[in-house]
Amino acid sequence: MKTVSICFVCLGNICRSPTAEGVMRHLVEQANLAERILIDSAGTGDWHIGQPPDDRAQQASRGRGYELSALRGRQIAAADFERFDLLIAMDDKNIAALREICPPEQRDKIRLLMEFVPETDARWHGAREVVDPYFGGAEGFEQVLDQCEAACGGLIAVLRPQLIA
Ligand code: 4NP
Repeated sequence: MKTVSICFVCLGNICRSPTAEGVMRHLVEQANLAERILIDSAGTGDWHIGQPPDDRAQQASRGRGYELSALRGRQIAAADFERFDLLIAMDDKNIAALREICPPEQRDKIRLLMEFVPETDARWHGAREVVDPYFGGAEGFEQVLDQCEAACGGLIAVLRPQLIA
């Protein structure tokens, strides 16, 4: 059975990447692909290792049916480039930090989440980054969810034909 392993990456691993993980897990289960698409998340920074997602991210996610409370922060490591097929970053700073620790032959595994938004999505197609909501208000966490839903739906649409071929 073909599988693909994905690690979503942000700065702290308490807001954006756990939200992407929660949304993706939900959509992958709905698509009956849970055995084929393996999902994790990590941060480029080390401040929140072992911590659950930010309360605001948990609350906003719960409002849409995504449960993040079991997740715990961890920091990305060079070994993750061997373990995962795709390391999907939220913004350009995450990309730069990933490139610093990435073995040269694994560089193609680094992607931006918003690349996967379908062309038909008038609201989010063309947006480049998932903006860091940490120092802002509740609306930032809703926007992160909107973006993760748009991009993760597109990501599944890209992966599905490769996995069931
Ligand atoms: P995240 O958000 O990268 O989406 O998890 C942040 C979390 C923590 C910090 C910054 C961004 N921080 O400065 O501690």
